[in-house]
Amino acid sequence: MKQLARRITGTSKKSFGMYARAAASGRDDLIHMELGKPYADTPQHIKDATIAAIQDGKVHYSDLPGIPALREAVAAKLARQNGMDVTADQVVVTNGLTHGSYAAFMAFIDDGDEVILLEPYYPQHIGKIELAGGTAVPVPLDAKNDYAIDAALIEASITERTKMIVLINPCNPTGRVYTREELTALADVAIRHDLIVVSDEVYEEIVYDGAKHISIASLPGMAERTVTLFAFTKSYAMDGWRIGYLAAPKAAVGAILKITANDVTHVNTFIQEGALAALGGDPAVLAQLIADDREKRDRVVTRLNQISGVTCPWPQGTIYAFADVSQFGLSAQTFAERLMDETGVVVASGSFYGPAGEGRLRFCFGSLSLEDIDLALDRVTSFVRQLG
Ligand SMILES: Cc1ncc(COP(=O)(O)O)c(C=O)c1O
Repeated sequence: MKQLARRITGTSKKSFGMYARAAASGRDDLIHMELGKPYADTPQHIKDATIAAIQDGKVHYSDLPGIPALREAVAAKLARQNGMDVTADQVVVTNGLTHGSYAAFMAFIDDGDEVILLEPYYPQHIGKIELAGGTAVPVPLDAKNDYAIDAALIEASITERTKMIVLINPCNPTGRVYTREELTALADVAIRHDLIVVSDEVYEEIVYDGAKHISIASLPGMAERTVTLFAFTKSYAMDGWRIGYLAAPKAAVGAILKITANDVTHVNTFIQEGALAALGGDPAVLAQLIADDREKRDRVVTRLNQISGVTCPWPQGTIYAFADVSQFGLSAQTFAERLMDETGVVVASGSFYGPAGEGRLRFCFGSLSLEDIDLALDRVTSFVRQLG
């Protein structure tokens, strides 16, 4: 066989961390808290609209950027909810957020460009940055400062090759929902150095205790340099459907479409009808899904903080608790591996998200029933007690 492409052999081999280890174990008795897979079923009205679309013959090719009705509904939602002033022709429907980020990276990154990531980062962004020819430059945020955005540190990492900053807000894995002050400081740096911002807002709706999610593209001077990525994945429990959308500056839409039209042509026509129903549905359905997540968050964080030696900050958003277990003198990876091997509870190691996550474990509470959360936390509690 001829050699593989250098874009494959020359890029880092990021694994899927504890998820891969759990899958390779072949065990079927594991409790999975390592993966952000929603526990809830997709709401019925979304399924019904999709089935009706198939029955109505909406099974053919449609518009490359997405069906007009969905893009119009997205533009209205972005104005209403995100304070973003975009027209439907700035919206591109994507196969989940993953596809949107791939298109954004491919559209902007040239060989040798540097892309700043806030660490702890989402490792899957790195794979795509590298496939596009770029180099990921993680900027470690300080756990002691609750992983607040440190604009001075970000600015100090900028070189003449820096092209882009990637933001995740609300943040996986830390659960932070960034304040207007933090986002403004980041925006100032981006504007001063003429950088693109790719903002991953897949958890935008999953916020708690009155925390307010702010889209960085809504800040002055940011609309023309920000590609904002969204998906129905987490909020609407539509992870397997693979649907999301992005909003881009007008000048970038053509480039992004060159990627998406070449890699997938467009997203499945009838799935887009389901997404349209999600946006137009009764807001109480979404509110209930988030209320369920909040109940699980409360249970997990309360129980983790009851374990002597474990400290867990309250996540303001997302479906993850990022608990500090550094007191026990084990690396986060060893802790996660022993927890899995000895109790069957699988969590992600904080170091999977970069060295700034060392000493932490990420517990996904959105993926389990309350009963399984209790079972998992019983096991975690006994395991930690026996560690001393
Ligand atoms: C920060 C972040 N971005 C993107 C994704 C992937 O989203 P999608 O399944 O819509 O591609 C995830 C999933 O866990 C995530 O946590």
